This record gives sequence, C-alpha cells and structure tokens, in this order.
Amino acid sequence: MSSPLPVETGWRRTTDICVSSAVWRLPAPAHCDHLTRDTGPEAEATLIKRVNHQSTSQEFAAAAPKLRCISCGRVSDRAGQTFRCTQCGDLVEIAYPDWKANELVRSSARLKALWRERKTSPHAADQSGVWRFRELLPGLRSLDSVVTLREGNTPVYQLQRSARLSGVDTVLTKHQGMNPTGSFKDTGMTVATSFAKEAGFRWVACASTGNTSASMAAYAARAGMQALVLIPQGKISWSKLAQALDYGALTCQLRTDFDGCMRVLNEVVLRMPAYLLNSVNPYRIEGQKTVALELVEQLNWELPDHIIVPGGNLGNSSAIGKAFLEMKELGLISRLPKLSVVQAEGANPLVRMIRSKGEHLVPVEAETAATAIRIGNPASWKKALGVLKATEGAVDEVSEVEIAQAKAEIGSEGIGCEPASAVTLAGLKKLVRRGFIKPAETVVLILTGHFLKDPEFTLKFHRGELFAGGKDDSAASALLSYQRAPIVLDASADAVLAALERAENS
Ligand code: F0G
Repeated sequence: MSSPLPVETGWRRTTDICVSSAVWRLPAPAHCDHLTRDTGPEAEATLIKRVNHQSTSQEFAAAAPKLRCISCGRVSDRAGQTFRCTQCGDLVEIAYPDWKANELVRSSARLKALWRERKTSPHAADQSGVWRFRELLPGLRSLDSVVTLREGNTPVYQLQRSARLSGVDTVLTKHQGMNPTGSFKDTGMTVATSFAKEAGFRWVACASTGNTSASMAAYAARAGMQALVLIPQGKISWSKLAQALDYGALTCQLRTDFDGCMRVLNEVVLRMPAYLLNSVNPYRIEGQKTVALELVEQLNWELPDHIIVPGGNLGNSSAIGKAFLEMKELGLISRLPKLSVVQAEGANPLVRMIRSKGEHLVPVEAETAATAIRIGNPASWKKALGVLKATEGAVDEVSEVEIAQAKAEIGSEGIGCEPASAVTLAGLKKLVRRGFIKPAETVVLILTGHFLKDPEFTLKFHRGELFAGGKDDSAASALLSYQRAPIVLDASADAVLAALERAENS
C-alpha cells in the first residue's frame, strides 16, 4: 500500500469541492416545448427513445444542484471538505432549483414511463437501480463517470409471520442487504464515488461501523481510487472488516468508538485532500433516496402507510424522508407515508431528545450488540428530525433481547438480516402496541444489511452465548424456543434419525 502522504502529483490541494463543474448541460428550451406539446403513447415512446439515447451521452440535461444549509438556508455551489455550511457550520443538503423549469421532471407520467423503460436497457447506468432515477439526482458532467456495481434493484418481500406476530395485516420488507456489498450503503456510494472520481480525487475516506467502509472500499476499487477506512477496534463484525481488506482499503482500527473515529476523520480530511464519504456527504444522501423511488415503483405507485428504518448516524432516514417529500412535491405521489426511526436502547440519543422535548441532541456513550448502529452522536439528527416531523412519523427504542428475537423471526421466514436491521420489526411491535400503527395499515420495514454481515451474532444467539452471564441473561430465557444450536453426532444414520425424531416430538 502506498503512503497516504501527498508525495506524488495528482493531489488536489484545494479544500473546496466545485459543484458547479459537475453539472450536465441544460436541455434546449425548444426541445422541451416540443416534448410537452406531443401527447399520447406514440409521443411517449419517442420521448423515451430520445431521452434514453441522450441520457447515455453528455448532451442529456439532469438536475443542476445547489448546496443548501439545513439551518441558515445559505445556498452555494461549493462545499468544504466536511460538507458543512461556511456560514454557520451546519450540514448542507442538495436542492434542485432547476426542477421548476424542467418539463420532464414536472411530468410524473413521463418520468415513470422513462424509469420503467430503462429496466431493459443494456447501458450500465440504466442497469443501476440508482442511476435509473437520475432525473432526481445531481448531474455528473458525463454518465461515463458513473461508478456502479449495479446497486439497488433490491427485492420487496412479504413477511407473513412477522405480520401475525406484530398484529398488522401487511408487513413488507425492502431488503437493502441484497445490494452488491450487502448493505444499503451502496446506493449512496455509487453517487458520491462518481462525483469524487469526476472531481479528480485520489483518496476517499470514511469512519465506519463496518458497512460504509465495506461499500466505500469496493466502489473506490472500481473507480481506481485509494480508500482510507477508520473503524473502531474490536467493535465491528469480522465480515465487514474482511470486506474492506479484500477490496484493498488502507484499514486503520482506532482505539476508540465510531464517534471517536468520526472526530479523527474530520481532522484528517482537513489536513489531506481526501474526499469524505460518510453520510454527511450530501451526494450519498441523494443516492440513498432511490430506495424510496424503487419501493413505490415496485408497489405500482401505491403507498404503504408506514416505513420503519433503523437509526444510527441518521443519514438513511433523512434520505428516505427527503425522497418522499420530493416525490410529493413533483406529483409522483399524492400523500406521504409515516416514516419512523427505531434505535437500540443503548444507542438512543434521538429517542432521548424527542422524549425529553429537547431542542438539541445530547450525545450518549453507545453500547449495543447491533454494532452497525452503535453510534452515540449521530451527525444527521437535524435532517432526520425534519423528515420525522414532515411525515408525522415516530421514534422508538428496542432492547437487546427484542433485537435478537426479531432477528430470529426474520430469519425464520427465510429472509435473514443483520442485527441492526432487525430493530425495525422489534420497533414495529412496539409501535403497534402503542397504537401508533393500526392493524389494517400496511408497513414496510427497511432491512439495511445482509444476514451474512454478522454471522458471529447469529451463532452466539443459537448457541445460547449471546446474553450468557450478562444483565439480559434472564430476559433472554424467553428466546430458548428460537434457538437452533447445531447438534454434533456420530456419523451414522441411526444417530441422525434419532435426532430427527427428537425434533419431531419437541
Ligand atoms: N443499518 C445498518 C446495517 C448500518 O450499517 C447502519 C449504519 C444503519 C442501519 C444506520 O444507518 O447511520 O444512516 O442511520 N452504518 C454506518 C456504517 C454508520 O458506518 O456502516 P444511518
């Protein structure tokens, strides 16, 4: 691995990322006029052909984004290395002032038809479940810059047992763990990495509880960039660590927690020109929006009543909420589902803030076996609070035992997920008990990570080791019926048949 110090040419010394240089050219107004005058299926087919053709060239006009501060509202074309407002220091988000004048974006029927049509296209960007929706994403100078592993395109499953257990008629899950590196991070990483590549960065960097680092390392490798990963030593799963190593990242295990890694990284990116790829990066948020677009498209543009998302650094809930608000603004949907966030009891700063009616988030020292969401000082809490209010969603927290049980239940439906994702089902049960979710309502759980992300948790659970000797030991005895420890037997058919009989009779 080469030195991370700036010893070679090719380093960008600027501390600013130029957004205005990363914009597709706008369409000629005459072209738009023509498209809006023609109606009917024939005109639509022509439109799709034409836009598809153009969208694979540099001629296509996508949204010209601006960066807007979420607190003071300052709008600019440029962001500093840490994606914070130069005036007040708060986070920035991407806004699309040009949408108002963009005929294609204002036509929901045409957008829907175009996105559907792209599913059969051979072009890499169209095969991505993220870039297929590129009219609602910031525009690259060229689609050739797209770094894609064909992310998105994840399935929606019905969870019948979970529905029965939680007392609602319909529970669906959108399984983001089915992304190329096994987590939802890929949908944001494809967008932000493409911008980093186009801007000429050599290094990308992140602090992570494991999934961001795995995803970033993969996309950096695809783009020919170097990846710097900061992870808390001993506090992420081995599978995620292994992914970062396999994809060639410079992986530093710091003697601290995730929040400590984030602190160090913020300093590192100010001292070297690395592109920050945590979810404070608003380009990642834009990519992560597409899960909502893909979901409602899969549901034939019929909306569920509730969406439930796990809460860690709170970027994902912000992204999904932003997507629904934008879809409503553009007339793609006519109402908003309620977006709720569930945290682990030991990593619950948002829940605490809302319960105490506080105006500012007070960081906590986080502790949970759901290591992906072991975060005590979530960077995007204000964005998440905004979408919770706008969609009239709720927050709740779940215990370690509730997480383990929900994970086993999702597993027993043949789906499986990592522990952090299982907070959604555990939270659903609580929200039903609280009366916030009604039995006849439709709920979508966003499963954020693949089952194979943390097999150690699962093995410990089934061997009865997860809570042994700890404070949850007695509460965990309720989970005995879920445990399926492997049985060691002599190599004989008799022994196997006896085990089978015991299983039948138990
Ligand atoms: N679920 C999984 C599987 C995650 O990996 C994360 C976050 C979350 C939920 C929470 O999402 O942070 O957007 O609220 N993982 C990050 C990481 C922090 O570094 O991989 P969030």
